[in-house]
Amino acid sequence: MRLTSKAQASAWGVRGAIVLGLILAAAGSAQAQVAPPAGQGSALTVDGLALAKAKTCLGCHLVDEKRVGPAYVQIARRYGDLEQAAQYLVNSIRLGGKGRWGVVPMPAQPQVTESEARQLAQWILSLK
Ligand code: HEC
Repeated sequence: MRLTSKAQASAWGVRGAIVLGLILAAAGSAQAQVAPPAGQGSALTVDGLALAKAKTCLGCHLVDEKRVGPAYVQIARRYGDLEQAAQYLVNSIRLGGKGRWGVVPMPAQPQVTESEARQLAQWILSLK
């Protein structure tokens, strides 16, 4: 794939990594470490998706579509510009909560460690 502008290249990097991650997740493959085509932050994208899958987040969330909970891209857009966004989301992920997106509450996720929650939060914020 030949791309002309840098912006295009990085957009493709992120999208490509998301698509790649989805394909890998769908295939149930552990090959998520394979380096995506281009762009920095791509490894985070793939690892974040794999972690979200491993922690069963994807039972309720999809990357770009509402499921039981809001789409991760929506979450990224809502909080992405806040200074403490990552820390806020770490707490949101671990403690769950309700009333921010609709009537369905999110249960606390005690199986997620602080550092896993941080990785998930940074991954979600990288999606916007
Ligand atoms: C049982 C379903 C369910 C599971 C499992 C789940 N979520 Fe959620 N999540 C929700 C719902 C529903 C909301 C919206 C809650 C609300 O309206 O406040 C939500 C909201 C969120 C938010 C936004 C919180 C905010 O402050 O606006 C984040 C971030 C999030 N989830 C991440 C995760 C991650 C990461 C995991 C996996 C560790 C996960 N969720 C697992 C249902 C779920």
